[in-house]
Amino acid sequence: MIKLSPSILAADFSILGEQIKELNAMKENNAPYLHIDVMDGIFVPSISFGMPIMESIRKITDKIFDVHLMIMDPHRYISAFKKSGADIITFHLEACDAPSELIGDLHTMGIKAGITVKPETPVELLYPYLNQVEMVLIMSVNPGFGGQEFISGSLERIRKIRKYLDENNLRTDIQVDGGIYHENVHEVIEAGANVIVAGSAVFGGNIQENVHKFNKIFANR
Ligand code: DX5
Ligand code: ZN
Repeated sequence: MIKLSPSILAADFSILGEQIKELNAMKENNAPYLHIDVMDGIFVPSISFGMPIMESIRKITDKIFDVHLMIMDPHRYISAFKKSGADIITFHLEACDAPSELIGDLHTMGIKAGITVKPETPVELLYPYLNQVEMVLIMSVNPGFGGQEFISGSLERIRKIRKYLDENNLRTDIQVDGGIYHENVHEVIEAGANVIVAGSAVFGGNIQENVHKFNKIFANR
């Protein structure tokens, strides 16, 4: 089943709670996640938000917190993110010295593990970890900002990962993040992704209508 992970980076933070409640209220929901982009200003040029925001919204939603850590040395913070309600933590291979140890510690804490690389890093570097994680994230923009254009070469990267997973009988989720809209999501799904991150395409305009439109596309797959 294809699922949507709305990225709150594109939300209106002055009414973040209300916007999340709009997602909560949807019955047909194929959007069980909230994608939470944490940026440290070092691994990526921008700074976003962190634990206090997560703790606040944890009180108003049961959505699966899909936390995308764009920070150096993510291992330092996993207990703090666990306390703030993280369910899945995706980290960047480039930012981490001991990926298998980190994955092991996430699992010990009861957190699902996701792994990713920046668009210019070969996806083959992820292969050794794909039997250890629950999710692999293909970045389809350079991490750091919402509202960027989808990098078309990402489709080939998704296909490579799909092929590797199928050949190795792995059921790891393939998430894709950045520049995805109703108009191009079918390409991402056809390439083999099953968890779709969308920020601008969900929070730009009518949130429920936008999610409903994604659900309709997913239902036809
Ligand atoms: C970029 C973030 C994305 C971003 C996607 O660094 O990882 O999650 O919010 O936003 P859109 O869907 O607007 O490209
Ligand atoms: Zn993200």
